[in-house]
Amino acid sequence: MAEFEDDPESIGIARPMGRVFGDIAQERLSRRALLGGAAAAGLAAALPEEAQAQAGRSSLKFADADSVMNAQDRVAPGYKRSFVIKWGDPLFADAPGFDPRAQSGAKQERQFGYNNDFMAFFPLPYGSRSSTRGLLHVNHEYCNGNLMFPGIGERGNQTKEQCEVEMAAHGLSTIEVAKIGGEWRFVRDSKFNRRLSGSGEMFHVSGPAAGHPRLRSNEDRTGTLVVGTLNNCAGGVTPWGTVLSGEENFNGYFGGDAAKTPEARNHARYGVQAYQGAPWATYFERFNVEKNPNEPNRYGWVVEYDPYDPKSSPVKRTALGRFKHEGATCVVCPDGRVAVYSGDDERFEYVYRFVSSGKFDPKNRRANRDLLDEGTLSVARFDADGSLRWLPLVHGQGPLTAANGFETQADVLIEARRAADLVGATPMDRPEDVETNPVTGRTYVMCTYNERRAAADAAEARTRVNPANPRVGSRTGHVVEMIPPGGRGAKADHAADVFRWDIFLMGGDPADPASGAKYGAGVGPNGWLAAPDNVAFDPKGRMWISTDGMPTQASPARADGLFGTDTEGPGRAVTKRIYGAPSGAEVCGPCFTPDGKTLFLAIQHPGEARGSNYENPSTRWPDFRDDWPPRPSVIAVEKIDGGEIGS
Ligand code: FEO
Ligand code: CA
Ligand code: CA
Repeated sequence: MAEFEDDPESIGIARPMGRVFGDIAQERLSRRALLGGAAAAGLAAALPEEAQAQAGRSSLKFADADSVMNAQDRVAPGYKRSFVIKWGDPLFADAPGFDPRAQSGAKQERQFGYNNDFMAFFPLPYGSRSSTRGLLHVNHEYCNGNLMFPGIGERGNQTKEQCEVEMAAHGLSTIEVAKIGGEWRFVRDSKFNRRLSGSGEMFHVSGPAAGHPRLRSNEDRTGTLVVGTLNNCAGGVTPWGTVLSGEENFNGYFGGDAAKTPEARNHARYGVQAYQGAPWATYFERFNVEKNPNEPNRYGWVVEYDPYDPKSSPVKRTALGRFKHEGATCVVCPDGRVAVYSGDDERFEYVYRFVSSGKFDPKNRRANRDLLDEGTLSVARFDADGSLRWLPLVHGQGPLTAANGFETQADVLIEARRAADLVGATPMDRPEDVETNPVTGRTYVMCTYNERRAAADAAEARTRVNPANPRVGSRTGHVVEMIPPGGRGAKADHAADVFRWDIFLMGGDPADPASGAKYGAGVGPNGWLAAPDNVAFDPKGRMWISTDGMPTQASPARADGLFGTDTEGPGRAVTKRIYGAPSGAEVCGPCFTPDGKTLFLAIQHPGEARGSNYENPSTRWPDFRDDWPPRPSVIAVEKIDGGEIGS
């Protein structure tokens, strides 16, 4: 989601009020401190001469795509991109074709949803390593009503029917994809194709908060069934071949005065109060918190579902906690337990980790079905000595007691943010995607930016710079590296209580000495990034970072894009741009086929900008039809010579 002052990442109660001014002296200090750590990590200031000398040291062999912002997208020289699927494409034989002036909720339930975000590729058949046929899971995060429908203008005044389309355009899609005649296509009417939305099928609730009175609503008196899923942002894949999908900015859908409800403190902490005039709540009581005060408690979870079984029930796994889950990255620990990492994307929020009690059984897929229902949720504290402590959020331990309003573990999970406040977690610069490098076992947190990060003497303690978020008024973001003990790859102990951490890179222009940017040597003028958001690893363990908000966070404006880098060796933190997004779009869902030869990208919210709307969008990508709005779309990027991406 691009930057608006009233966007859902801006309204949490923990934000500092008023404008934050950078303290230059403190910023210098922070930079010096960073340089100390950076030297140890092999980082270097990218001086132009040195950059020239080092330019060939990355293992990525392509030249940067250009960074200009315009209506069209572009790939690096030697690469091509093709369209796999677009918003509104019919998934089933009987589904209607896309007609932007005649959409309905019922039609949209049978078509590909809006604002594609996280993606995961599952080879077909199950258990194979196919790189030419598989299932693509896609999250649909939110809607741009003013780009989807005529006559909306800048901000939402949707009709009831348009709200129904929006609900149906949210959620998840599973599509079969195949390379046919050398081109990637989605397979219409595949038996695997499926839509799950914000208004359709019921989702089950499992884990410690399932059935709790605070999860019971007018829709469901049992607290175990929820209508659909909302704001599915990033996600993850389990080792047993299911999808994890994070429900992020759920608060933005609810209207009414939350301060009048028994959940006032809880709702304020998640920013539910901020949208009293939310359009859905105008027509649907479900979204009016005065009439249905517990309904927001039924979102903000991680959803698990099985893409290989189109009849399976999606489940909200409450043991992983309730917050604005950017994603949910699942890794196996050396003893067989699994860890799930998740960022809570809002200014000054936290990084979480869940570790299962039970162990992953690679021989019996079904035995892992409920592994994520029992375990320990923790939150990260990044200390100045380079250690990272995982602080458990367990009812009865420390401050998490009835005296502080936590009667049971269900309360701890429902109000995970308040629990994390009390145990002393480190407030981060909007932690977005978190992902583990399968080769090294090191895990990376994309801190997208936080222009409200204040100086060390700011009145509000949580807003002050800290070692892991060292830049006052950060507009360009940074990447934090979490280093588990135990060894590389499968030996990395993701269940350990104490890790080490470092700063992997600081975003911004390395040629501008005032930017505070830090990379490895050799980043070119089109290769630097701002506002890191999603992240994925290719089969060789190289990191691919997509950005969201670069046009507004970098000056002059540059297109959002996808950037590759090594994480080790001389190419460490030497970012290179392989893709540039069309105007207004962020790049999401990077994911690779097992052979590393296809890179799927989800291009989200093309045309999103101030003053851009259905009638006069800033781009009509990808169709460029005068009578059609821009359409979020999934593309496949390949090397023209058919080789591995990056080779
Ligand atoms: Fe949905 Fe934080 O991006
Ligand atoms: Ca994101
Ligand atoms: Ca984002």
